[in-house]
Amino acid sequence: TMAPVSDPSSFSSLSKCATKHLNLIYHVDFDRQVLKGKVALTVEVLEDKFASLTLDSKDLKIFKVSANGQAVQFALGTKHKFKGSPLEITLPFELSRGQHVIVEIEYETSPSATALQWLTPKQTAGKKHPYLFSQCQAIHCRTMVPCQDTPSVKHTYYAQVSVPRELVALMSALRDGQEPDPSDSNRVIYRFRQPVPMPAYLIAIVVGALESREIGPRSRVWSEKEYVDEAAFEFSETETMLKTAESLAGPYVWGQYDLLVLPPSFPYGGMENPCLTFVTPTVLAGDRSLAGVIAHEISHSWTGNLVTNRTWEHFWLNEGHTVYIERMIARCMESEQLRQFEGIGGWKELQESVKEFGPNNVLTNLVTNLHEVDTDEAFSSVPYEKGFALLYHLEELMGGPEVFMGFVKSYIQLFAYGSVTTEEWKNYLFTYFKDKVDILNKVDWNGWMHTPGMPPVKPQYDTTMADVCTALCQRWVKAKEEDLASFTEADVKKLNSPQLIEFVALLLQEEPLPLSHVKKMQEVYQLNSVKNTEVRFRWLRICVRAHWEEAVPLALKMATEQGRMKFTRPLFR
Ligand code: BES
Ligand code: ZN
Repeated sequence: TMAPVSDPSSFSSLSKCATKHLNLIYHVDFDRQVLKGKVALTVEVLEDKFASLTLDSKDLKIFKVSANGQAVQFALGTKHKFKGSPLEITLPFELSRGQHVIVEIEYETSPSATALQWLTPKQTAGKKHPYLFSQCQAIHCRTMVPCQDTPSVKHTYYAQVSVPRELVALMSALRDGQEPDPSDSNRVIYRFRQPVPMPAYLIAIVVGALESREIGPRSRVWSEKEYVDEAAFEFSETETMLKTAESLAGPYVWGQYDLLVLPPSFPYGGMENPCLTFVTPTVLAGDRSLAGVIAHEISHSWTGNLVTNRTWEHFWLNEGHTVYIERMIARCMESEQLRQFEGIGGWKELQESVKEFGPNNVLTNLVTNLHEVDTDEAFSSVPYEKGFALLYHLEELMGGPEVFMGFVKSYIQLFAYGSVTTEEWKNYLFTYFKDKVDILNKVDWNGWMHTPGMPPVKPQYDTTMADVCTALCQRWVKAKEEDLASFTEADVKKLNSPQLIEFVALLLQEEPLPLSHVKKMQEVYQLNSVKNTEVRFRWLRICVRAHWEEAVPLALKMATEQGRMKFTRPLFR
């Protein structure tokens, strides 16, 4: 039995009907920067006397709506600033509970659709062909498809996409062949099928001059040809990560696991689109040191894509569990000490977010209230790191990583193919650990879940890997002018890549360093020439905070050469 569903970010009817399948036909028009097409939704009726339904839409031009082949009346409601316009459809007949109806909509997207980035040839690596990519999470799918744009509804999909013949189309689905477009000899139609039910926010499309290389038995890496070799090297551990994740969480149900390296304007580090994870080129460090992003997106194949947050108010269920599994993968592939080190880094990220929002801001609650709140404005490290901290705290209480991962795996099995709320998660936690409810009852649930600021308990982490970072950071913070000569290249030579990132992250948490210190640090560590973007963006902020004017053009260059929000926004700030 499911709790009554309501989603503050969606206009669509949730108790009346549920979309089961979506059949999409797109004509990709690069000249007008629009997708023109048709979608047929197979909708299951959930109530008697069903005669109307509401879908989500935003900036769509609707030409025609029909139901079971018959043209029907429709109207677009008043536009809400981030939710878009409800698409109200009235049927000329009544249906009862259990019946199905096929709702077909002919429409066109807007050039300013918030899910879509249309790049001119100049904005690509190859400079010859245009490029299109989507980013639907959390509530942008409605600018691409009129649909029930809520994670509480799951459906399969089939799609046919017509593109200029020199380009390749991919979607978050299995490739199902291609054929010349019968209506235009300069175009090709690509077909896709997604046989696993998934929420609308996981629909994704990319069109560009793409090439690919095989990197594993179920994996290829896709990108413009300029990046493929670099990407194939960087992500060569993908199959090992998939196998490790399967050993922890159960079978991988999505068939293929491909990666797409996007142009630099992609706004996120990674996006877990089923069958085809999207990643920013800023993870191409040249030494696989940022491949943790892939472990994270792989983990979403279980937490997020298979078990999904019922609404965006429960987003921590997606990201907290995913970070937990990502760090379990680090534990299996590397060491428990690395996992502990990442836990410390995560706690520090949480402190940063709480500082940024203010400790009394309700957006720092683990479970948020999104009535009239734009999900993009609420986004932060809080659901990731407060979520992880809670799961790690429970792991400590319940008997360690193996025991707690047993719970996570069982939770995945139970809720697979469904959508869950925090309450359902918590009820299952108490059921699974029925012999330990005394301990669970002592947890300050209200403090963890519904109170702003840092969590009520700080978990304990092993500091073996972190100690060198803290020590070196403190040496710089405490150094007087006359001490600067004691710093040498050797200080950082003994740090591995995650430790170097942690060192600059720690410095950034301190008061700004004197200019003399920062100049000396450049002289001995040569951080201006570090390619690793996680090091570079923190280092450049350290320099700007020290008022080193020579760093400003470098910071501006990094802020504008790529568009990953994690880097670009703090650099501009
Ligand atoms: N699903 C998220 C990205 C996302 C969240 C997009 C909410 C839109 C709305 C993805 O899995 C993610 O968390 N990406 C992280 C990388 C990760 C290693 C923490 C990112 O982009 O920084
Ligand atoms: Zn994630």
